[in-house]
Amino acid sequence: MTLPWRIQQSVTVSMLEAVWAQLNDLVAARMGLSFPKERWDDLKRGVSLAAREFGHKDVASCIQWLVSAQLSKKQIEVLASYLTIGETYFFREARAFEALEKDILPDLLRQRRGGDRCLRIWSAGCATGEEPYSIAILLNKMLPDLPRWHITVLATDINPRALKKAQAGIYGDWSFRDCPRWLKDGYFGKTKDGRYEVLPDIKKMVTFGYHNLVEDPYPSLLNGTNAMDVIFCRNVLMYFVSEQAKRVVQGYCHCLTDGGWLIVSPGEVSIVRHPQLAGTNHTGITLYQKKSEKPETEAALLPWTEPCDLPSVTAPVLTESLRYDDNGPDLSVAAQPEASEVILAEPAKYEEALALFHAGCYVEAERAITGLLSANQANAEAMTLLARIYANRGKLPQALVWCQNAISVDKLNPGTHYLLATILQERGQVREAVVSLKHALFLDPDLVPAHFALGTLVRHQGKAKEAHKHFENALSLLNKRQTEDWLPEAGITAGRLTEIIRSTIGVEERHGRSRG
Ligand SMILES: C[S@@+](CC[C@H](N)C(=O)[O-])C[C@H]1O[C@@H](n2cnc3c(N)ncnc32)[C@H](O)[C@@H]1O
Repeated sequence: MTLPWRIQQSVTVSMLEAVWAQLNDLVAARMGLSFPKERWDDLKRGVSLAAREFGHKDVASCIQWLVSAQLSKKQIEVLASYLTIGETYFFREARAFEALEKDILPDLLRQRRGGDRCLRIWSAGCATGEEPYSIAILLNKMLPDLPRWHITVLATDINPRALKKAQAGIYGDWSFRDCPRWLKDGYFGKTKDGRYEVLPDIKKMVTFGYHNLVEDPYPSLLNGTNAMDVIFCRNVLMYFVSEQAKRVVQGYCHCLTDGGWLIVSPGEVSIVRHPQLAGTNHTGITLYQKKSEKPETEAALLPWTEPCDLPSVTAPVLTESLRYDDNGPDLSVAAQPEASEVILAEPAKYEEALALFHAGCYVEAERAITGLLSANQANAEAMTLLARIYANRGKLPQALVWCQNAISVDKLNPGTHYLLATILQERGQVREAVVSLKHALFLDPDLVPAHFALGTLVRHQGKAKEAHKHFENALSLLNKRQTEDWLPEAGITAGRLTEIIRSTIGVEERHGRSRG
């Protein structure tokens, strides 16, 4: 029996709608993007273009495959290149940059000038790079002693094509709309074809990387998304489904240091609702500042001294109950609880602190772990966790001290040497970080994240061959693991790290070819 034509047609339409809805769900789950019915035409256009790249002759078969396959990072990258909106330009929304220049940076720079001179800014969803380069230009203008600072401008995006353009740093007039003349004159060179290339001093201030806000970890020492003073995430979350946008804001809150700033576009203000983010008005726009979780207690609990420069030296940390000297913690000074009490209570307390750390409750995690440390001062695992807590809060000197203390108690733990390397790297102590990574690999030649980190560091030092060797080592070790194996030092699965390394090597090769 055949159905009447009208019913046939409505069955076909509702089947088609169901498939589009499935695709919509997939895109929301893997990329965060929202395509409500009124934007299905955009979705169709994007998927038709992606279908060719995926090798499908017709869009219908491509969609069937997309909704039934377990898509890899590479395939998500392809979809992202066609589905994302990369509209951007230099110093977009001038009021945000005015607030950065007049309100946010002066305070931050004043605080840091007397200390470690570190400043960390993240442009998340940086598209073709105009936003992070604008930040770098502003910092270059504001800091006459720039070489004495360790500035991080991390710029990430899900669209690899946009990132490639960002890394090249060459722009046409359209990227300069609304910009004053001094920008082109002072910070760009003219190319033969009449475009503008960012000057090398500005280019080298920005680190570009692939990062999917929905699937990649943050905060994470592996990708440097921890301890941010300022996060720019403008004109990104407005395209997200609300559940994913909420998760991103929660993640940013964990990435920000206490007092750190989140900058969204004026159209995204209604999306930012978080008890720890206080909205304040600056030059007519709303910016969000992270409040401390609880009143600070750490100073009372654990006074610390500036760490020594050499990673292998234990810095002295003195309190009534905790005493350390140059040889490591002096465990004889405090009354020790009964051994059985420590053995029974410690793992549970550690787990509690770890859970608080993973939930981003750093102040509470710190309180729990310092309680544990005052009961057992030789607990290297607890010291390492305390170092990670400090690193995530942007307190790098304290992180360094506790990591060094952990190493002095347990010199043979490769993971702690790896953590030390990441802290040193963030402090700009690249040579020392390389030494620590070599220690880590000496103790455990199979420590994959250390191979990856060493590859990344030596690549920045211009040692392409050595970098490639480390990336290859990491890949061949990962090849022996299950994709879903968890790598605790990296905070991601083996499969994900494989994809990240492959795309790092890919970006390098493409970049090398375009230069050569
Ligand atoms: C309109 S651009 C914004 C550029 C810049 N922030 C600005 O305001 O001028 C939005 C960017 O967000 C990126 N994006 C979208 N979804 C993302 C995700 N899940 N993870 C990371 N970036 C994403 C897009 O690729 C695109 O480059």
